[in-house]
Parts: sequence; C-alpha cells; structure tokens
Amino acid sequence: MTPQLDRHLIKIVVSLTALFSSALVDPSEEQSKTQWVAPVTEAPKKNPVASNESSIAAGQKIYLKRCVACHGKAGNGDGPDATDLGIHPAKLSDPAVREETDGALFWKITVGKKPMPSYGTRLSPTDRWNVINYLRSLARR
Ligand code: HEC
Repeated sequence: MTPQLDRHLIKIVVSLTALFSSALVDPSEEQSKTQWVAPVTEAPKKNPVASNESSIAAGQKIYLKRCVACHGKAGNGDGPDATDLGIHPAKLSDPAVREETDGALFWKITVGKKPMPSYGTRLSPTDRWNVINYLRSLARR
C-alpha cells in the first residue's frame, strides 16, 4: 500500500468511529429516558395548604397562566409550546405522576428541569401548593 492510501484509510476509519460514537451517546436522549426523581428528603413533605375551593381556584389561575402552554389544558402534555419546542412535557394526568407525593411535585415545580423553568422564585410557596391542589383536582375528573 502506498503511504498516501494508508493515510486515506485512517481518515475514513477515524470519521466513521466519530460518527458511530456520536450516534450512540447522545446525552440529551440519555436524560429524557432517565426518570426525574425527587430527593427522598423532599418527597415526604406535607402540603400545608388545604385543598379547598379557593386554593384550587388560585391554582387553576396559575396553571392556566404559567403551565398550560407546555402541559396542556387537561395536563396531557400537549400544550402549544410543547409542539413548537419539540419537547415532551410530562403528562400530569398520568397515573405515575398522580402517585407521586405532594412533596415530590413541590420540589420539581420549585427547581424545574430544562426546558421547564424553576418556580422557586417565580411563585410563592403557597402558590406552588395551590397549583398542586389544582393538579390533584384535574386527576379526579
Ligand atoms: C417550557 C415548558 C414547560 C412549562 C412552562 C412548565 N413545564 Fe412542567 N415540565 C416540562 C417538561 C419538558 C417536563 C419533563 C421534564 C423531564 O422529566 O425531563 C416537565 C415536568 C413537570 C413535572 C414533573 C412530572 C413528573 O414526571 O413527575 C411537574 C409536576 C410539572 N412539570 C409541573 C409544572 C407546573 C405546575 C408548571 C407551571 C407552574 C409547569 N410544569 C410549567 C415543561 C414545562
């Protein structure tokens, strides 16, 4: 083999290797498959806000203003922004989400997870609990 052909072959092998490894390890893909789990210290937190009519109404207001664009009216993850951004927001109506504790949901809403914003500074703690009370009322429908 001529040295030139040799170098050519090496180039092909190197670029093929790069191609395959990038296809195999896509970090964003990796993340979306791992479940988002709240820390064990947060999950047992009790909801201090009673789930009454006024709390649910307050939660609904916040949800329709801040969450509906991604999570959809019925919490099915089909809001208009979800399609635009090409994301899959959690289906809040899903049994798996319903089974999560209020504390776990509170922590998730507080810290967020890209592209979902964190609401720790955007919403008061009471409003975050109100939204959770609203989500629970959606699930009962
Ligand atoms: C920009 C779009 C966007 C907005 C706005 C948004 N979310 Fe999300 N949300 C997401 C995405 C995407 C996920 C999935 C994150 C993941 O698991 O990787 C998510 C996940 C969640 C989860 C976790 C569900 C689970 O798997 O346990 C909860 C709870 C939640 N969102 C509530 C809310 C609430 C309440 C609001 C409004 C205050 C809100 N979100 C606003 C995109 C959004």
